[in-house]
Amino acid sequence: MEHTPERPLRVAILISGRGSNMQALVDAVMADHLPVRVCTVLANRADAAGLDWARAKGLQAECLSHRDFDSRDAFDAALRARLDALAPDVILLAGFMRVLGHDFVRHFNGRIINIHPSLLPAFPGLHTHQQALAQGVQWHGCTVHFVTPVLDHGPIIAQGAIPVLASDTPDSLAARLLPVEHQVYVQVLRWLAEGRVTLKDDGRVQVAGVDHRAWAGDTLFE
Ligand code: GAR
Repeated sequence: MEHTPERPLRVAILISGRGSNMQALVDAVMADHLPVRVCTVLANRADAAGLDWARAKGLQAECLSHRDFDSRDAFDAALRARLDALAPDVILLAGFMRVLGHDFVRHFNGRIINIHPSLLPAFPGLHTHQQALAQGVQWHGCTVHFVTPVLDHGPIIAQGAIPVLASDTPDSLAARLLPVEHQVYVQVLRWLAEGRVTLKDDGRVQVAGVDHRAWAGDTLFE
């Protein structure tokens, strides 16, 4: 369904830290008047810097700390209840560093999207830039994908790639990749708002009318 200002796409953005991807998403919504309503920016850490930024933009921003719960399941249940109350169409994980349990993922099946700093299926998990350097790959990148119960393995919506330089360190790779992450995630949000993104029965993603979902640096590959 194509969203309109009267029927905006409702998104919840989940963060754990500085939230630069969240900021890029929110800035695009505001600057380009996208038919998107950010119903919450939610962090699992009270000290997530992105919360202050979101509040300063006048957004609903809140913390649900996993430390306040005895178990992963209890945290997931509270998060699920909070999100159910807000009824988002999609939940965008933007540097949300908490693994979500199977029940949570199944409950929101096909409605959770994540950005991961590698060209999946290579390098799931943590320290992706270090992993890329250790393997000697010549291309590194980011992936926006649907979340499934298998960590960092869901259907791919779009990817951005950067070359790996001989002089690269994990920090330099991360810094060069970050603007590409922002670009790719914002474009995916646009496609979502335009109602173009479908998760097909074969487990792959289709974006209606779009043939190129790969960025080389900050340029959409054509
Ligand atoms: C981003 O690089 C994002 O891809 C990564 O955390 C960073 C968050 O930065 N996410 C993951 O590693 C998820 N497994 P941000 O808070 O500035 O958006």
